[in-house]
Amino acid sequence: MTALETDATASSGARSTLLEVTDLSTSFRTERGLVHAVDGVTFTLDRGRTLGVVGESGSGKTVLSRSIMGLLGGKNVIREGSVRYEGTEIIDYSAKQMSSVWGAEMSMVFQDPMTSLNPVMKIGKQITESLHRHLDVEKDEARKTAVALLRSVGIPAPEQRLDEYPHQLSGGMRQRVTIAIALACGPKLLFADEPTTALDVTVQAQILDLLEAQQRDRHMAMILVTHDLGVVRTRADEIIVMYGGKVVEQAPTRTLFTEKKMPYTEALLHSIPRLDMPSHTRLDAIPGRPPNLIDPPRGCNFAPRCRYVQARCLEERPPLVAGDSPGHFYRCFFPIGSPENTEALARNQAAGTAVAAPAPRPTVSTEES
Ligand SMILES: Nc1ncnc2c1ncn2[C@@H]1O[C@H](COP(=O)(O)OP(=O)(O)O)[C@@H](O)[C@H]1O
Ligand code: SF4
Ligand SMILES: [Mg+2]
Repeated sequence: MTALETDATASSGARSTLLEVTDLSTSFRTERGLVHAVDGVTFTLDRGRTLGVVGESGSGKTVLSRSIMGLLGGKNVIREGSVRYEGTEIIDYSAKQMSSVWGAEMSMVFQDPMTSLNPVMKIGKQITESLHRHLDVEKDEARKTAVALLRSVGIPAPEQRLDEYPHQLSGGMRQRVTIAIALACGPKLLFADEPTTALDVTVQAQILDLLEAQQRDRHMAMILVTHDLGVVRTRADEIIVMYGGKVVEQAPTRTLFTEKKMPYTEALLHSIPRLDMPSHTRLDAIPGRPPNLIDPPRGCNFAPRCRYVQARCLEERPPLVAGDSPGHFYRCFFPIGSPENTEALARNQAAGTAVAAPAPRPTVSTEES
């Protein structure tokens, strides 16, 4: 969605809520203790809009998506809070109840098409099975729909592809097939969980463009999960930044980029991949490690890695507070752009304790590559 369209949608006033997530927490009972993977996440998503969920590996993005979709079963999982879809509470839905929601209402495109596709089933069958299951479509009709779907996701000679197996396609084509399957039953909400991470950089932009075009054509809402702020910069209406299972900053996209308050968001921005990096380059631009989710630090989770850290940050947990612009929230005592922030950095530099800032990188997003 372009900035213009985003503005047009926003100013038309024709917004209607599809998904309301309130104080959602998800933990896992493990032998080492309780892993707090998602901690008190709240957001609202309107029909046809895109929410970007951004954070480093292990920040809780996948658990959040799966938790909303009710894909985390088993007695070791503890889910608390509220997930309202079209006004109905679904947090307590059983797998059986959720099966009417999966595919037809919400569906997901996973990171690696090779693991989400069945390697020993022909592509045509993988699509038509979903149509049979959810829409009770006749065999011939399902095959025609499958051809149309494959064509709509840019797969050449779709009739021929129906009788092929996943391994006969390139990575990019396989991801197009998984998108076709996810779209088969016309969901109103699509989760795209790092949909391009396993792909070559040359096809990443094509897949993101495809998702965006499909989303617009179908007026579908999308939750686009990525570790790369560059990916959501021009594609999301709103962004939540996750760290250690918590939302640490949340804002309409333009506000996030122009008025960012969180030192972690700043560090993520500096870790946007550059064009000259080989694909799959591991970005270690933020010094240090993510927090321990079983025994998190007493104060701010980001303190050990933050160049602005002060004594208060080690003692107290910063609450989520409102920024100056509507819809902007952050979790920091010494926010970027404030005099307190400048003073904190100056104090750390004078004391020689400032964590080195990652070198600023050109703000080039992967989709332009
Ligand atoms: N089934 C599980 N049992 C225990 N811990 C888990 C489980 N699934 C995920 N986690 C932990 O939850 C945290 C968040 O994981 P995840 O949501 O996959 O991160 P992301 O998608 O942001 O990379 C990680 O520390 C991960 O190890
Ligand atoms: S609260 Fe303190 S440690 Fe945490 S991000 Fe803000 S300045 Fe850094
Ligand atoms: Mg993940």
